[in-house]
Amino acid sequence: MRLDRVLSNSGYGSRSEVRQMVRSGRVSVAGITARDPGQILSQQEMAAILLDSETLVIRLHRHVMLNKPAGLITAMEDPHLPTIADLIPAAWKSSGVTPVGRLDRDATGLLLLTNDGTLNHRLASPRWGVWKTYRLTYSGTPLGDTERGLFAAGLILPDGQHCRSAILTLLQDNMADLAIHEGKFHQVKNMIQGVGRKVITLHRMTFGPLKLDETLNPGSSRELTQAEADALYKVVQLEQT
Ligand code: URA
Repeated sequence: MRLDRVLSNSGYGSRSEVRQMVRSGRVSVAGITARDPGQILSQQEMAAILLDSETLVIRLHRHVMLNKPAGLITAMEDPHLPTIADLIPAAWKSSGVTPVGRLDRDATGLLLLTNDGTLNHRLASPRWGVWKTYRLTYSGTPLGDTERGLFAAGLILPDGQHCRSAILTLLQDNMADLAIHEGKFHQVKNMIQGVGRKVITLHRMTFGPLKLDETLNPGSSRELTQAEADALYKVVQLEQT
């Protein structure tokens, strides 16, 4: 991997900041002052990087759990609207984390970000069918066994799209949990609309093996623990590098 990417992924600055560090002679690799930010490093060299003579801790991959509040779009930048990037600490942003899939602007809850592109791709891909659970409130008459059966059998939306089998758990007061293992555009809202109700609030509680950390206030984020990261890689059968 390139030296500048190793440094920025590890949280030592944005890509342009770390390039400047290298060009000004502050970085050495295996005892030799580095001059080229694009220098390709072996695994051994990655363990022997010094900045201002201090050994650096190299972490190529970073994974972040955010409790998304309503009102922000799921993107790292947007010319007009506030994004979830406003909530992510600068060092994590410069390590290149991006959201895995998306939550609608009005949706809340567990949003995962990672800078491991392969992991991101697999977690979001319908091929891997990672389960996600949403707690929703809705308007209209209470959902019942009929809708539970329709969802379990695989709902066909009014536009003809076939949904995969989903698990509807009915709760009190026009509240329900819906577990799906795909991620079509506005999927939950469209499924609820497909059975004649309307989603009022939508909150993601789980993503694959991850549960939203209840101690994270809306807008707060934290890095995944090693056990959480291990479980995520396992669910999409990927080796951690
Ligand atoms: N389904 C939706 O309709 N919206 C989301 O944000 C996520 C799933």
